[in-house]
Amino acid sequence: MKRKSIISGFSKLSREEKVAALTDSADKIKSKLDSFRLQNKEQQDLLDEISENTLSNFYLPFGVAPNFLINKNLYHIPMVIEESSVIAAASRSAKFWANHGGFHARVISVVKSGQVHFLWKGEKVRLLDLLPELKYELYRTTKELTRNMRQRGGGIQNIRLVDLSHEMENYYQLHVDFDTVDSMGANFINSCLEQMAQTMKKFFKYYQDLDDIERECEIIMSILSNYTPDCLVESWVECDIRELDNIEPGMSGKEFAEKFSKASKIAEVDVFRAATHNKGIFNGIDAVALATGNDFRAIEANGHVWAAKSGKYKSLTHASVSNNRFKYKLTIPLSLGTVGGLTSLHPLAKFGLELLGKPSAKELMMITATAGLANNFGALRSLVTTGIQYGHMKMHLSNLLNALKADYEEKKQALEYFAHKTVSYSEVESFIKSIRTKLR
Ligand code: MEV
Repeated sequence: MKRKSIISGFSKLSREEKVAALTDSADKIKSKLDSFRLQNKEQQDLLDEISENTLSNFYLPFGVAPNFLINKNLYHIPMVIEESSVIAAASRSAKFWANHGGFHARVISVVKSGQVHFLWKGEKVRLLDLLPELKYELYRTTKELTRNMRQRGGGIQNIRLVDLSHEMENYYQLHVDFDTVDSMGANFINSCLEQMAQTMKKFFKYYQDLDDIERECEIIMSILSNYTPDCLVESWVECDIRELDNIEPGMSGKEFAEKFSKASKIAEVDVFRAATHNKGIFNGIDAVALATGNDFRAIEANGHVWAAKSGKYKSLTHASVSNNRFKYKLTIPLSLGTVGGLTSLHPLAKFGLELLGKPSAKELMMITATAGLANNFGALRSLVTTGIQYGHMKMHLSNLLNALKADYEEKKQALEYFAHKTVSYSEVESFIKSIRTKLR
């Protein structure tokens, strides 16, 4: 199947030629790849053009976690995820909190940033002297680029000089803050920064009274930052601990709240646990990001740096019990968009946003953070009570049955048989084998 030779000019080949170049059994492989392509040519062309060297489509389930009450508004949240149990856990938490006051969320800030990284060999004081005039030029030369964004209420918010010459010789940054309103804004930010880099070069080249050394401004690169500590949202739940009574049979609300808080605290003090704890939060967040056409890699990078902002990687949540009140809060930077990019190109991302009532970026920040909190609450709830495998394996059973190519009747029998048993691959495999042997 796999050909191990360099393929030159791959991108210029037709789809058929690409498949032929990759495999010896092109016909068989092509018909498999074709079976996952859309009948609708217009939609397939659109998907093909989103990326490069496209051969087929890779499907992931698009599901919905219903009944999220957030700030008294009801949402049915679209989620795209390959992992079983994530949507079930989110839905279970949504149902639970809908009966206990719902989720609360608020956007703290919406600033996004980018940087022009440059080297300058002159004296820092001189650079600081020139800064007001340079800034004036930076705003002036980006006016055209920012016009639309300004009309929508956003644009460049601040430009400051950052001196990092103590970290790397002659290294400075222009650190630029933006408000990109409802767009994620990556292209807008990068275009502004590249324009600023050109303006800077010219500014130093032609400014009067600079010596030769001061005229040299070496631009290293201009790019947005995926770390947006000032594009911050929080989502939380709270209730009287008595409302948690019997959240699991036989467990008092007080016992649950205290054990839950300890589990949450462990993720604040231990990095091994923190990574898994936060991964559970991103199960929900990434799934909403995908379903709404947002960039989940950017979101993850952002969240993980934020989690390490104290110098030690910690959980993104915090639990507290005081005066008989249980409170559990997630605080996370989330840079999202609801217009432009994939949000309007991908037909299912468009549908995902429609399902949410076409939210603003701020509203989507609150919804997405809440999905993350819901998944994490669900995980911790299971971990401190039944254990995670109880729920997980039940969901995993259907994946195992599919992997074993079980038919409808076999699945039905397996679901009955494993209803109150521990599920493992070997147990399921031998159960299916035993039915198949009996039938022979
Ligand atoms: C699995 O995808 C996520 C969990 O491991 C999260 C957690 O341990 O908190 C269940």
